[in-house]
Amino acid sequence: MIDKQLIVNSIFEAVEGQLAKSDIEQTIEKPKYAHLGDYAFPCFTLAKIFRKSPNIIAKEISGKVNNDFIEKVEAVGGYVNIFLKQSEISKGVLSSIVSSQSVYGQQKNGEGQTITIDFSSPNIAKPFSMGHLRSTVIGNAVANIAEKNGYDVVRINHLGDWGTQFGKLIVAYHLWGNKELIEQSPVRELLKIYVKFHEVAEQDDSLNDQARAAFKKLEQGDEEALQLWQWFRKASLKEFEQVYALLGIRFDSYAGEAFYNDKMDRVVELLAEQGLLEESDGAMVVNLENMPPCLIKKTDGTTLYATRDLAAALYRNETYNSTKSFYVVGNEQSLHFKQLFKVLEKMEYGWAKELQHIPFGMMLKDGKKMSTRKGKVVLLEEVLNDAIQLAGKNIEEKNPNLKQKEEIAKVVGTGAVIFHDLKNHRMNDIEFSLEEMLNFEGETGPYVQYTHARICSLLRKGQYNTEISQFEGLSDEAWPVVISLKGFPEVVAKAFELADPSQIAKYLIELSRAFNKYYAHTRILEDDVTRHVKLTLCASVAIVLEEGLRLLGIQAPEEM
Ligand code: ARG
Repeated sequence: MIDKQLIVNSIFEAVEGQLAKSDIEQTIEKPKYAHLGDYAFPCFTLAKIFRKSPNIIAKEISGKVNNDFIEKVEAVGGYVNIFLKQSEISKGVLSSIVSSQSVYGQQKNGEGQTITIDFSSPNIAKPFSMGHLRSTVIGNAVANIAEKNGYDVVRINHLGDWGTQFGKLIVAYHLWGNKELIEQSPVRELLKIYVKFHEVAEQDDSLNDQARAAFKKLEQGDEEALQLWQWFRKASLKEFEQVYALLGIRFDSYAGEAFYNDKMDRVVELLAEQGLLEESDGAMVVNLENMPPCLIKKTDGTTLYATRDLAAALYRNETYNSTKSFYVVGNEQSLHFKQLFKVLEKMEYGWAKELQHIPFGMMLKDGKKMSTRKGKVVLLEEVLNDAIQLAGKNIEEKNPNLKQKEEIAKVVGTGAVIFHDLKNHRMNDIEFSLEEMLNFEGETGPYVQYTHARICSLLRKGQYNTEISQFEGLSDEAWPVVISLKGFPEVVAKAFELADPSQIAKYLIELSRAFNKYYAHTRILEDDVTRHVKLTLCASVAIVLEEGLRLLGIQAPEEM
């Protein structure tokens, strides 16, 4: 099948190797208007090399560029405009989608390799924050995209189930805890006493000492402390699992921070053996160049977040034999991961350079960070439930006779939240707005889902099945749709390369737009000779929309 590479090769020959292929590839543009061709190559950089005007160069090159898929080449205003053989390409794209169905776009670059992806990783006994929602949604999409690129993916939930907050919780529980209430609504109740702890500790510092002591007891294996910890963990996890079920997300491992308790001595020993461990004010640290030292053990001998991450990295490398590891964690932890990777590098693990922090920006509400510390929390389940409710209302207005309304409201509501998060580059902060995410006409999940559902309805009415597929005879109006479909495999590869699900989300908007424009100008079900090829195009769009949404972690209902 034709792709950009063939055009690049052809230009490369035409310029007699004066430009590197990679430069040509970067220079080639996709013109905004159809009369300027499918690809355009600007000749302004070459003007300096050849000491001729861009116009003249464009004319010379246009005489030389050709291959089997090029229809014609024109030189206009210093650009070489390349027109492709639309019918042949359309035939190739449609038949490839119809024959491979959801496998269309599958890449091989990750074949035979394993990648571990650490994502979601909420903290036990604390609410699932919007930051964790972002990590969950982004991480899940990156994991799906990695699979589509051929990788074996290990999804790891590095639960925050250890650390000084448990000391605080144990103290708070003894002071104000209510067993029944916690059983009923663990996260909410535990948060309540956790918030109270902070309020009271602001006046009375001795509470912090008690909490430190309680955590130390826990680390030393005190029976009662352990039991409380286990109960907090189990109850919270059950609640988190409801959110994962709602979002359709699963993990291969829930090995959280506590899992590494008996694996940290080894790390400390290794560091000591290599002479990397140094004492600083009674604490043990690894000193690093150009950044603060990495704290390994506190003065009181307790270990830290970083120590557990070191043990986890070693464990994962040994257990999964992974060639790559992603950590999908908020941008505010950048320094932590820089330190972590640097320490592993100093330990001379070759695989350390394959570890990658995949950071993301904040979720804002009215321009301010949505925070959990002081209890101003937006509980994630409430957010999702609000979205589902609003989706239900929209559906009620648009399609009151729809069957399985509730099920579809769920898919549309959660899809809206997920898409809203993923449509911008992950480093951007995003403003949380239910109305915006559920707008059926905007750049939203429901818009893409609705486009898909509309096609499904067309296919039902047209009684399409793959046997009647036809691949020739599309009108010119179909071309932008075909070109967009053709681009999907490239987008899949790029989305992995950049660990950037927004590539897929933006692509889906573009494909939906292209299709809806075509749909507005074309009578698809009109019974003429091209009816079957039009339906085949529709079916192809539906396949790619469904698969693209799946990569983002969103379902595509056939009706809505
Ligand atoms: N539990 C941590 C937090 O909520 C995130 C953990 C991320 N993963 C890791 N391996 N450090 O801040």
